[in-house]
Amino acid sequence: MNKNLTFTMIKPAAVLDGHSGAILAKIAEGGFTIKALRMQRLSKEQAEAFYIIHKERPFYASLVESMTSGPIVAAILEKENAVLAYREYIGATNPAEAKDGSIRKLYGKSIGDNAVHGSDSDENAAIEADFFFSGMERF
Ligand code: CMP
Repeated sequence: MNKNLTFTMIKPAAVLDGHSGAILAKIAEGGFTIKALRMQRLSKEQAEAFYIIHKERPFYASLVESMTSGPIVAAILEKENAVLAYREYIGATNPAEAKDGSIRKLYGKSIGDNAVHGSDSDENAAIEADFFFSGMERF
């Protein structure tokens, strides 16, 4: 089996609502193996840098504000076709459109506070994993 990696973040609204444990359990239930894990609060500069690709979008400022409103839980996940499998598993970006039983449907509140981030390509998964984790923090 050709396993690969994706990166996820449980967003502040979901963490502050007490859903971190349930979301991590759901991630494990989906067959994703946790290879790295950390809870932390992002600074404004870190959130801006992480989402720099969205800098010109109208929602950039509000996204940075919500991503810095409390702690996040960052993780590297492993599974066969991890990026696509995880995107499918968490559901559509807008929780209102996410399929029943998906993480975003269960725990997302709005398009900005959509419970979790998931990488959109293998290339971005590697960039995002490197943004958060050193080699010593990966297992
Ligand atoms: P995420 O997977 O973290 O990647 C970029 C984020 O931008 C996305 O989830 C949403 O939370 C947010 N986002 C995308 N589109 C919009 C939008 N139209 N309005 C507000 N936030 C958005």
